[in-house]
Amino acid sequence: MLFSSAVLTLLPLTTLASPFSSRAALYADLSTKHSWGASIPSASWVYHSTPDPATLLNLRFGLRPSNFDTLLAHLSETSDPFHERYGKHLSKEQVDELMRPSSETLQEVKDWLTWHGVEVGALPSASDRWISVNIPISLAETLLNTTYHVFAHTDSDAKIVRTLEYSLPRHLHEHINLVSPTTYFGTTQSMRTTSLLQPKISGLNSNLTAELTPSISCRTVVTPTCLQELYNTANYTPTQTNVNKIGITGYLAQYASYSDYTTFIQKYLPDATGSNFTVTQVNGGYNYQNSPGLEANLDVQYATGVSWPTPLTFYSIGGSPPFLLDSATGSNTNEPYLDWLDWIATVPDDELPNTFSTSYGDDEQTVPADYATEVCNLLATLGARGASVLFSSGDSGVGAGNCQSNDGTNKVIFQPAFPASCPYVTTVGGTTGISPEIATTDFASGGGFSRLFSQPSYQADAVKAFLATNGDANSGMFNASGRAYPDVAAQGQGFQVIVRGQTLSLDGTSCSSPTFAGVVALLNDYKLAKDGTTLGFLNPLLYANPDALNDITTGTNYGCGTSGFSAATGWDPVTGLGTPDFLKLQAIV
Ligand SMILES: *[C@@H]1O[C@H](CO)[C@@H](O)[C@H](O)[C@H]1NC(C)=O
Ligand SMILES: *[C@@H]1O[C@H](CO)[C@@H](O)[C@H](O)[C@H]1NC(C)=O
Ligand SMILES: *[C@@H]1O[C@H](CO)[C@@H](O)[C@H](O)[C@H]1NC(C)=O
Ligand SMILES: *[C@@H]1O[C@H](CO)[C@@H](O)[C@H](O)[C@H]1NC(C)=O
Repeated sequence: MLFSSAVLTLLPLTTLASPFSSRAALYADLSTKHSWGASIPSASWVYHSTPDPATLLNLRFGLRPSNFDTLLAHLSETSDPFHERYGKHLSKEQVDELMRPSSETLQEVKDWLTWHGVEVGALPSASDRWISVNIPISLAETLLNTTYHVFAHTDSDAKIVRTLEYSLPRHLHEHINLVSPTTYFGTTQSMRTTSLLQPKISGLNSNLTAELTPSISCRTVVTPTCLQELYNTANYTPTQTNVNKIGITGYLAQYASYSDYTTFIQKYLPDATGSNFTVTQVNGGYNYQNSPGLEANLDVQYATGVSWPTPLTFYSIGGSPPFLLDSATGSNTNEPYLDWLDWIATVPDDELPNTFSTSYGDDEQTVPADYATEVCNLLATLGARGASVLFSSGDSGVGAGNCQSNDGTNKVIFQPAFPASCPYVTTVGGTTGISPEIATTDFASGGGFSRLFSQPSYQADAVKAFLATNGDANSGMFNASGRAYPDVAAQGQGFQVIVRGQTLSLDGTSCSSPTFAGVVALLNDYKLAKDGTTLGFLNPLLYANPDALNDITTGTNYGCGTSGFSAATGWDPVTGLGTPDFLKLQAIV
């Protein structure tokens, strides 16, 4: 087999130049890259079996970018409304250059792989950051000094190949950010779809096929019309629809239905009759029109409901189980965030949406720190290119379930969500009602403090003010110096969504993110018309202008057996800075 016999023939000159024994010694000096200890980090997965060692694994090495710090320095200037470079976003080519690994990094990693008999071709990805090889599990185990297992999902028939720890030669730690698949268990099935089905609507006929009268007030049910009224977008007419675009990401084999969209438009947005959305299939994602998803339909219908006639692209992202144990063609790695981020990095500037909404998440503690950091850093590259990236904050308040820490102590602590906790995205919590608009009541708006990402300076004053009000409530349950979220909020209950021709009423911050993103898409339209630039990463602008949002001061986000945090005057970890007021936001952009 190539992998074992090719060692000598593939040996490069650089390797021959150094004594074989010292290379061997260098590569034998291993150090743990990531370890979960002895236990599986997520209760959703259980040990299943030992994989056939000959099974091919598509192993990917994420190389360290040569200049990520420079990219962050640019991002901090171009997203700072007080900086002279505000709005001067980087091009795709500039970002690619900063993210490209150094030639030293490339050479060190190639030398190591080649020494082990792994053939490394030209780097395929446009951003040149990933080395991807199809090798037998047995060889991956040698490279990483680890043992792979098959794990089964407790609520589905999904199976994944993962390990509980892996190592790399010590000198390669500074060159390799992460290896995938290894210790990431947060896969598609357990990514929470933050959308709750709420079939019963108080005061209304519970027959879901019966006509619902669109409410203008958002008091009983939520429709595009009431959101437009509530958030003051009703009188704005977009003009930049040839250059401005909104993107929705769909995971978990969620498909958005064209015919449901058409029904939705007829019923709730007749001005948009004849409009449509575009589906882009990424990484083998499908577009099964006979299998519409609640989440996908909700996201597409409400992002359009607020931002129409801004064009909308729905990204159907592959990476869904089951993993085929007898696959001869390389396993599916089931790590869809990375797959999508790698792919979107190749999209040219003039095709990149200016606004993105994503409604999926994991418990932060189930995501390996190196994986979370990689995903979060790649989200920062979208901001650096001038896109606004929004995520739902989650539907379980300060944490779902028993909230036990998975570090072996079983300590009960608040459980932040990821990617909501990434400091380079805008995280959206949920509200309900009008006059006053309050934190959601049917479920708890996700919020809290990251244990992984430190607090960015743009929110330091706002969080400090909240902590002063909070006193010692929940002390010991959260890390007050972590990145705090959500940043903002929007309605999250009673959304009227068409699925398979029927009207359903949905709850969740999955409603809130596309709604807020719809408002942002309109703001991007306005900014493009005004000065030809886009908003990009929003948070520094929003925290500098809290009065442009409707402050939500009532409600809590219970969870982990506690009543969670309380909404308060100013920023709070339940509803953030508040809900959008388009006219006020328009005045500050
Ligand atoms: C490889 O891992 C095992 C534990 O699984 C450990 O005992 C051994 O020392 C490691 N090898 C090296 C070279 O670090
Ligand atoms: C629901 O309403 C539809 C349309 O009005 C009607 O045809 C259907 O029989 C009703 N179903 C039930 C269970 O009441
Ligand atoms: C929307 O686009 C899809 C895919 O091109 C197409 O099948 C569908 O008929 C379109 N719907 C409308 C209302 O144009
Ligand atoms: C709290 O968060 C900070 C910043 O992320 C981190 O440096 C520190 O280790 C965390 N402390 C605990 C106890 O988790």
